[in-house]
Amino acid sequence: MVARSFNPPRRYLMGPGPSDVHSRVLAAMARPTVGHLDPTFSEMMEELKELLRYAFQTKNDLTIPMSGPGSVGMEACFVNLVEPGDKVIVCQNGAFGGRMKENVERCGGEAIMVIDDWGKPVDLGKVEDAFKKNPRVKALAFVHAETSTGVESDAAKLCAIAQKNGALSIVDAVTSLGGIPVKVDEWGADAVYSGTQKCLSCMPGLSPLTFNPKAAQVVKSRNRKVQSWFMDLGLVMSYWQGSNARVYHHTAPINSLYALHEALVMLQEEGLENSWKRHRRAHLGLRAGMEAMGLKFLVAEPDRLPQLNLIVVPDGVDEAKVRARLLAEYDIEIGAGLGALSGKVWRVGLLGQSASAVHVTLFLAALEHCLAGTPGIKTGGAIAAAQTKLF
Ligand SMILES: Cc1ncc(COP(=O)(O)O)c(C=O)c1O
Repeated sequence: MVARSFNPPRRYLMGPGPSDVHSRVLAAMARPTVGHLDPTFSEMMEELKELLRYAFQTKNDLTIPMSGPGSVGMEACFVNLVEPGDKVIVCQNGAFGGRMKENVERCGGEAIMVIDDWGKPVDLGKVEDAFKKNPRVKALAFVHAETSTGVESDAAKLCAIAQKNGALSIVDAVTSLGGIPVKVDEWGADAVYSGTQKCLSCMPGLSPLTFNPKAAQVVKSRNRKVQSWFMDLGLVMSYWQGSNARVYHHTAPINSLYALHEALVMLQEEGLENSWKRHRRAHLGLRAGMEAMGLKFLVAEPDRLPQLNLIVVPDGVDEAKVRARLLAEYDIEIGAGLGALSGKVWRVGLLGQSASAVHVTLFLAALEHCLAGTPGIKTGGAIAAAQTKLF
């Protein structure tokens, strides 16, 4: 076989991630690779930590991008904070809470599950009850923005419940960071991780993570070594510490870190609040268009994530065929439903650069085309309806 250069098609990424990456971020990746201990690179790393603190709204010293996707950030929280025998309350209202349970158990901990239906937020009362029934819980873990269901849970209140019960909070902010408020210090969140490929609109493969001093102290005073050498934050920080004493741990993904730096510079230029507003505006435009067509959202209005929209597939429509047509005819990627929602919903992401008037109107035009003639679906009015909210 003679392989040739890979030239991917230009897609509009409107699924659950990755989102569209801005040309500035792609260009940053193509800059010359320097050594991972190069003094110029060290300066950039310091800026990167500061920019991440802004995105997370925190002053936490331990704020870094982990080398690896969101799953690495998740695993880093559990391997560093959970030791054999520790009890962790894990909230599960979608696919990702299940992964948290796996993580707790693989660390030798006991996962106490608080289960809610897919499409519903974490029930605060059930979490309070779980604390009442289980003394000496070390941590409460939950997903702020459930990508599988498009639901936001009340992170501020959940962190407050953890704090009141003397437990750490471990927060998954993979789909929320940059798209809706993530206020680490205001919430008193102890350990929070995210991903680069959602509302930060950077390429996949890095996981911003922040630990407050309390969580950092828990890592320092562990009874036994962290079972993962790669994710041991004590070791990782020997490279990310802000001094000339920086030492090799693993070779940093240098060009990817340029890209994250650029994506965060863009976030700073836009302003975090403006980014949240842009995501909301795009959602309202999409919603107006959907409603004009007679389509419905799965999630109740107050719990809906603006950046991840679950649209109910109309009766008699083959959802996979519509997704395939959107991709083939319009270069638009949207997501399918997961688990129990498979075949019943489309997941439409308005993440980062994909939260734009162009994406919303193109998608509505394409969907009207694909659903034309479907009983109960009105076409021809979605774009005008969306425009009343987008501008
Ligand atoms: C809420 C949530 N947590 C964790 C992850 C895992 O991130 P990654 O796929 O980057 O490993 C995802 C990915 O979609 C996610 O949506």
